Amino acid sequence: MPGDVTIGIHDLSLATARYVLTHETLAAQNGANVAKYHRGIGQHSMSVPAADEDIVTMAADAAAPIVARHGADRIRTVVFATETSVDQSKAAGVYVHSLLGLPSAARVVELKQACYSGTAALQFAIGLVHRDPSQQVLVIASDVSRYELGTAGEATQGAAAVAMLVGADPALVRIEKQSGVFTADIMDFWRPNYLTTALVDGRESISAYLQAVEGTWKDYTERGGRALDEFSAFCYHQPFTKMAYKAHRHLLQHCGHATDEGEITRAIGHTTAYNAEIGNSYTASMYVGLAALLDHADDLTGRAIGFLSYGSGSVAEFFAGTVVPGYRAQLRSDAHREAISRREKIGYTKYRELHERSFPVDGGDHPVPTETTGPYRLVGLSSHKRIYATR
Ligand code: COA
Repeated sequence: MPGDVTIGIHDLSLATARYVLTHETLAAQNGANVAKYHRGIGQHSMSVPAADEDIVTMAADAAAPIVARHGADRIRTVVFATETSVDQSKAAGVYVHSLLGLPSAARVVELKQACYSGTAALQFAIGLVHRDPSQQVLVIASDVSRYELGTAGEATQGAAAVAMLVGADPALVRIEKQSGVFTADIMDFWRPNYLTTALVDGRESISAYLQAVEGTWKDYTERGGRALDEFSAFCYHQPFTKMAYKAHRHLLQHCGHATDEGEITRAIGHTTAYNAEIGNSYTASMYVGLAALLDHADDLTGRAIGFLSYGSGSVAEFFAGTVVPGYRAQLRSDAHREAISRREKIGYTKYRELHERSFPVDGGDHPVPTETTGPYRLVGLSSHKRIYATR
């Protein structure tokens, strides 16, 4: 067994949806003060998938540049993390495997535990690579966050996918061994099989998240993790970006540290740059935060990053990563900024039409209009089968 092999994130790529709804538009519709959105929850806009986009098309869009850069020869496993699954049986990653032309000698599986499962996917990938460092694992986190129209959660919707290539001797971030985990049976956010929108007790979810911050940190330190002041930055799960501030303030207080707002902004400010524009992308959210940090911060070479992954219900994990020398040459900063800036602004009527869209359940042929400008599209539903294609 290779004992000293370093394993982590070798490449990372982000994709989001075609459309964007600004919080000015939402506030004008529902009469809220837009400052509540901009300053109160730290959100400026939300990505809205076109009719022919979903977790599969975004995932393939995110993963394609990784396969183009590194090839697929070493990828034997695809782990797809999502809480907005498109099928109760088939893993969404199988569609992605097909769209990307990955080798048939591969295993593909889907993982679920609210916003946390992207981190479970990463940890499982590390385990597989540890067993055979010649293999790489494609980890994909992809979600569309949807709440009922007119609810408090509506302002925290969004959509994105992050694809990560996990392997030995990674070019971006080495993931360290110590990890603090925490589980508590809490109904703060859930989606019964018969609903297409999530149910959330917003206040309960904030306190459950903060409880998980304490729980994971306790376990992390008991397992010999780093001291708090060894970290240069922290990536938190961001259901809305102000949550990262609340969480970090809470961790500092819990550890008896001063809560200087300038220090907090220095530790997490960069991680919120994309999430404030994309909105909540559930499983992808924390990794969207990592992309923003790597793309925006001054040289982080050799620096430790703390990660706090939270998934309602609830399961959480705190772990650490170290940024690898030369990482900047691997970044996809221009592509990430372009994916966000090229989104087309839509008005409330179009947003509402997309929000209310669903397929008939009669098993008939239901083509979807071509809207996406991305490389992959959902062509339609026929005999209850989803059909995807390269555009
Ligand atoms: N200017 C500045 N800030 C304002 C404001 C204004 N005009 N009006 C309100 N605010 C602030 C509030 O003080 C509050 O800040 P605080 O939390 O630091 O006290 C914040 O904006 C939100 O206001 P609130 O009244 O609590 O909003 P809400 O009832 O609409 O709920 C959420 C906000 C986040 C709880 C709600 O959007 C939600 O449930 N989102 C989903 C949460 C989620 O995804 N959880 C699951 C995963 S963790």
